[in-house]
Amino acid sequence: MVKIAASVLSCDFARLAEDTQAAVAAGADWLHLDIMDGHFVPNISFGPGLVGTFNRVTDTFLDVHLMLSDPGRYAESFVRNGADLVSFHIEAVPEPRPLLERLRGLGVKVGLVLNPDTLLERVLPYLGEIDLLLIMSVFPGFGGQKYIETVTEKIRLARRAIDSSGAPCVLEVDGGVNLSTCRPVIAAGADVLVVGSGLFGTGDYGETVRGLRG
Ligand code: DX5
Ligand code: ZN
Repeated sequence: MVKIAASVLSCDFARLAEDTQAAVAAGADWLHLDIMDGHFVPNISFGPGLVGTFNRVTDTFLDVHLMLSDPGRYAESFVRNGADLVSFHIEAVPEPRPLLERLRGLGVKVGLVLNPDTLLERVLPYLGEIDLLLIMSVFPGFGGQKYIETVTEKIRLARRAIDSSGAPCVLEVDGGVNLSTCRPVIAAGADVLVVGSGLFGTGDYGETVRGLRG
């Protein structure tokens, strides 16, 4: 069954603990933490300290998505603060092997992320070396954007590539996924759906999570 990673960028930060605990109680499998540096993307979110806060208020798997120009500079601090998986963009680190190895050495799972206009071919050589491939279905920087339909074909191709490589790599899709857009994403082969506004912007998280899982 498809996993749901609740993107806390859309949670109520005035009630951070209660709101994220409510998402987990409703069935969200992971918390997805979006880290933005105002340079790789045109927005600033939060840093390692708040990752530590999320780690204190839930026992849930913390999926940390680094939208940083220099993710290697901060890798250790995210791990120290409780990240379970750290992913970074291939556009920021075109030769990702050394950082993937460093992160692994710190004891976390590792992922690579691909923007909507980056070719899937860029990450294919690393499928056997990552735990997660994250395909962006919006241009990163903000929650609440519209799902880019043309990405569905890339998800399908990524599914095929992962299956034929035999790599135990999980396929995650991030951006604009909600109750009305999730069906083709799941049909194309996503294992994990990142859902921000499509979850925290709804009235009944339990009903939303059930609806997303179909
Ligand atoms: C976008 C972030 C996403 C975002 C998803 O830059 O990487 O994780 O928070 O939010 P929704 O689900 O609202 O598109
Ligand atoms: Zn994200």
